[in-house]
Amino acid sequence: MRDRLLERICSRSAHVVVLGVGYVGLPLAVEFARAGYRVTGLEPDDDKVRLLNAGESYIADVEPGQVAPLVSAGRLRATSDGTVLCDADAVIVCVPTPLNKTKDPDMRFIVAATDEVARHQREGMLIILESTTYPGTTREVLVPKLTGDRFELGKDVFIAFSPERVDPGNKTFKTKNTPKVLGGATPHCLKLAQALYGQIIDAVVPVSNPETAEMVKLLENTFRAVNIGLVNEIAIMSRRLGVDPFEVIRAAATKPFGFMPFYPGPGLGGHCIPIDPLHLSWKLRSLKYHARFIDLADAINSAMPAYVVDRIVDALNQHGKPVHGSKILVYGVAYKRDVSDVRESPAFDVIVELRKRSALIRYMDPHVPTVTVDGEELTSEGASTHFGGFDVVVLITDHAALDRERLLLEARLIVDTRDALHGVVGDRTKVVGL
Ligand SMILES: NC(=O)c1ccc[n+]([C@@H]2O[C@H](COP(=O)([O-])OP(=O)(O)OC[C@H]3O[C@@H](n4cnc5c(N)ncnc54)[C@H](O)[C@@H]3O)[C@@H](O)[C@H]2O)c1
Repeated sequence: MRDRLLERICSRSAHVVVLGVGYVGLPLAVEFARAGYRVTGLEPDDDKVRLLNAGESYIADVEPGQVAPLVSAGRLRATSDGTVLCDADAVIVCVPTPLNKTKDPDMRFIVAATDEVARHQREGMLIILESTTYPGTTREVLVPKLTGDRFELGKDVFIAFSPERVDPGNKTFKTKNTPKVLGGATPHCLKLAQALYGQIIDAVVPVSNPETAEMVKLLENTFRAVNIGLVNEIAIMSRRLGVDPFEVIRAAATKPFGFMPFYPGPGLGGHCIPIDPLHLSWKLRSLKYHARFIDLADAINSAMPAYVVDRIVDALNQHGKPVHGSKILVYGVAYKRDVSDVRESPAFDVIVELRKRSALIRYMDPHVPTVTVDGEELTSEGASTHFGGFDVVVLITDHAALDRERLLLEARLIVDTRDALHGVVGDRTKVVGL
């Protein structure tokens, strides 16, 4: 059984099913299909199924021309029919792992995906979880559901965890050239998973077990969340001292050793950094341990949108304007530069808070034509909109497309949360930093 699966993996004749073809699953599915595997995306979202089967990419990091040839060649397709799993050799689970309202892990997607696999499972399947989650998930949630009294782990079923590390918008590091950490539930599970990823990834990094692999991902993202929390607090402290925090960080970054620059901003966004560390702190609470760095960073980072609103209110006040009735342009609603992803974007908290204070809000984002705020759909201003038509322009996302010179020339007042206007020549007295 094991040897047959290994042979199918190595000869690239294995059928790979990717559960969830979103930001993580689609690039992975494309990479396996490019390597010659027959790949199916199992996806409940009808729009994604339709687009993928039409050969279209709906994820910015997967270039439009990449999908169609794979679909035409019969190597890549999508379906919402779970019976496709009956014929799967390798199954990779890339479903969402959000938090619920009380910031506890919402495991519904992983549980539903695992149940779906179990319903159609047969002997000799390799199942890998890629969704970011708390240490213990693979062994506590997947293993019991996929073994039971039907299948023996490491003999009839092979289970592993490998965290996805995709960095949306990164032009250098993609799925293939980003080393992949991997932990198998048994040595045979590791061996098979290593054989599979080794076909499409330049470097696979095996670790002792799934818990270690789960923890690696949480270390990486906690490292970012904590360091961003630290520089956000440095920003607040610097302003109190009358010092520009960005100048401080840029100067500190000239130290050739022992310092790594992180930059403050209006708050965390995206599906990873604001969420993943809380999976870890939640798990540790169940073990009666308080993850203090994580909770402190979360508190500081979550308060940044309110801090930005204070900066805006103060800046308007300095110009003799109440926030009530002020015309405010928010530039950038995507959570980071040059992407269209608005998940967890701090722009929403800023907009909602300003609206509560009766400000008149418009937004401009070349990557996000429309957004829904409090149930209302807003449409982006066009790129040529006159910045001088607003009492203040609030720069939340520093997209490369922003005409910085024109902004500084036209705007009456600017709150620049990203230091995007650093080095732009003009009247700096109207720029308020974070
Ligand atoms: N986006 C990133 O940059 C990134 C980076 C690293 C890790 N991750 C992690 O990867 C996981 C997926 O994130 P994403 O950004 O791709 O999310 P996504 O929302 O873009 O994609 C997930 C897909 O899973 C589908 N899905 C939901 N339930 C399903 C089910 N039962 N069966 C099959 N498909 C189902 C959804 O419809 C969606 O299309 C998360 O755990 C996330 O934390 C994301």
